Amino acid sequence: MSDNIIKIKGVKKYFGGVKALDGVDLEIKKGEIHCLAGENGCGKSTIINVISGFYTPDAGTIEIDGKTYTKLTTQQAIDEGIQVIYQDLSVFPNLTVRENLAINMEVANGKKFVSRKRYNEIALQALSKIDFKVDLDENVENLTVADKQLVAISRALLNNAKLIIMDEPTTAITQKEVKNLFKVIRDLQKQGIAVLFVSHKLDEVFEIAQQFTIFRSGKNVFSGPTSELDEKKFVYYMTGREINAEPFVYEEKAGAKTVLEVRHLTLTNGFADCSFSLKEGEILGITGLLGSGRTELAETVFGRHQPDSGEIYIDGEKVTFHSVQDAIDKGVGYVPAERNIQSLFMDQSIANNISITRWRDHAGRFGFMKEKSVEDSVNHWVRELSIKVGNIEDTMRTLSGGNAQKCVLAKWLSLDLKILILNGPTVGVDIGAKYDIYKLTKKLAAEGLAVIIISDDIREILSNCNRVLVMRQGRLVEERQTAGLDEASLSALAIEY
Ligand SMILES: Nc1ncnc2c1ncn2[C@@H]1O[C@H](COP(=O)(O)OP(=O)(O)OP(=O)(O)O)[C@@H](O)[C@H]1O
Ligand SMILES: [Mg+2]
Repeated sequence: MSDNIIKIKGVKKYFGGVKALDGVDLEIKKGEIHCLAGENGCGKSTIINVISGFYTPDAGTIEIDGKTYTKLTTQQAIDEGIQVIYQDLSVFPNLTVRENLAINMEVANGKKFVSRKRYNEIALQALSKIDFKVDLDENVENLTVADKQLVAISRALLNNAKLIIMDEPTTAITQKEVKNLFKVIRDLQKQGIAVLFVSHKLDEVFEIAQQFTIFRSGKNVFSGPTSELDEKKFVYYMTGREINAEPFVYEEKAGAKTVLEVRHLTLTNGFADCSFSLKEGEILGITGLLGSGRTELAETVFGRHQPDSGEIYIDGEKVTFHSVQDAIDKGVGYVPAERNIQSLFMDQSIANNISITRWRDHAGRFGFMKEKSVEDSVNHWVRELSIKVGNIEDTMRTLSGGNAQKCVLAKWLSLDLKILILNGPTVGVDIGAKYDIYKLTKKLAAEGLAVIIISDDIREILSNCNRVLVMRQGRLVEERQTAGLDEASLSALAIEY
C-alpha cells in the first residue's frame, strides 16, 4: 500500500498556445494538509480540474491510491474519493440545506421518489461528520458564504472522500469563519482525509499546511515540508524575484486640498452618522469586520446607494449622486470586492473589459473606437499590472482568477480619477502582483490621487495607508495615524465587542 493518496507525474495541459501545465508533479500523502501555491495563472486551478476529471491532460499520469490513470472521468474521480469544493460552491440556492445534502446521493442511487425521512437521515449523517449545526429547513441562499461552504464540505464527505480540494476557500469569509474552517480541516485530517488547499494569503497557508508544492508558469519550483520555507523563500519561489515592500510615507504638501468630505452620512440598515475627510495624496484605510458597513459606506460615496441623511462634498462642493455614473463624472472610482461577478463581462474580450469605462476618451470624431488608442492603453495596463494574457482579444473567461481581478483594477486605474476606492484590492491576487498593486497605488497617491483602501488585512492597511478608520456595526469608531501603530493594536480595535 502506498502512503500517497495521489501522485501526479509529468502532467501537461495546453490551451491553444498557452502551456497551463508544462509537465508538473504533485504528491499528496494520506491525511496530509497540502498547500498548492504559485502566482496568478501558474496552473493551480488547471491541475485541480485535471485531478477532478474535468480536464483531460495532454500528457502525464495520475496515480490514485496505487492505480494509474492517464485520464480520469469525473465519475472515476468521485469514486476514488476526490471531492472539489469550488469557489461557487455548487450548492442549489433555492433548495433547503436538507435537500442540498441529500439530493446528489439520492439521484446517484437512482431514487425517483423523495422520502423526507431518508433525506433527513442523510442530511444529519452529513452534518455530524464535521459537527456543523444548521437549520435543515433553511434555504441555502439565506446562509452566509461560510455556512454554504460547510454545507458543500459535509456533502462532499458523504461520498467517502479521501481527498478534499479547496480552491481559494477563504477569499469571501471573515477571519472568524476562517478559524472555524481550519478547525474543520484539522478534524478531517484526524479522520485520515487529505486536504489540498489553495490560497494567496501567506499567514493562512503557513498556519494550516504541512507540505507545500509551488508552481511557477506551469512547472514545479518547490515541494517540501513547511519547515523548509519562510516568508522570504516562499515569495522568492513563487515570483523568482526578491520583493521589498516600501512603507507608505505621506508628507502633506503645503496647501493640499481636501478632495472628499463626508458629513453625518447615514444609510438605513447600512451605517449611521459617518463623518471623515480625505486630502489629495492620502491613502486612507477603512477596516472592520465583514458586515460592519464598510462596503455600504464605500458604495454610497460611489453613488450606488442614496443616503437617508448627511452630505458628501467633493472639492468643497456639495454633491448628490443619483447613480454611479454621477460619481464617475465627479472623478470617483470604485473597485468592488466581488470582482468577477459584479464588474466583468466574461464573454467579452479582455481589451473590451479593460477599456469599457473609458470608451468616451477613445471614441473618435464619428463615435468609432480608435483601435490603436484602445490597444495602447490596454497594453500599458497589462504591462503595468503584469496581467498574464495570451492575447488581449481573447475572452475574459480564458484568464485565471487572479488575472481577471487585475483587469478590473486596470479598468479603473485607466480613468482620470480624483478619488479611488479599492475594496479588498488584493483579494485573490498573488504575492508578486500584490506588491505591484501596492507600488502603483503609492505612485498614484504621490501624483495627487486620493485613495481609500477597504480591507480586513491589517498588514495591508498598515503598510499602505497613512491614516485608518475603524468601522464597527455601521459606525466609524476610531481614527488613527498608522505611523507607530502595530498589528496587534489595530486588530484589537477592529474586532472588539
Ligand atoms: N479555458 C481556458 N482557455 C484558455 N486558457 C486558459 C483556460 N483556463 C486556463 N487558461 C490559462 O492557463 C493558465 C493557468 O490558469 P489557472 O486558472 O490554472 O491559473 P491559477 O494558478 O489558478 O491562477 P489564479 O491564482 O489567478 O487563480 C493561465 O495562463 C490561463 O490564462
Ligand atoms: Mg485559480
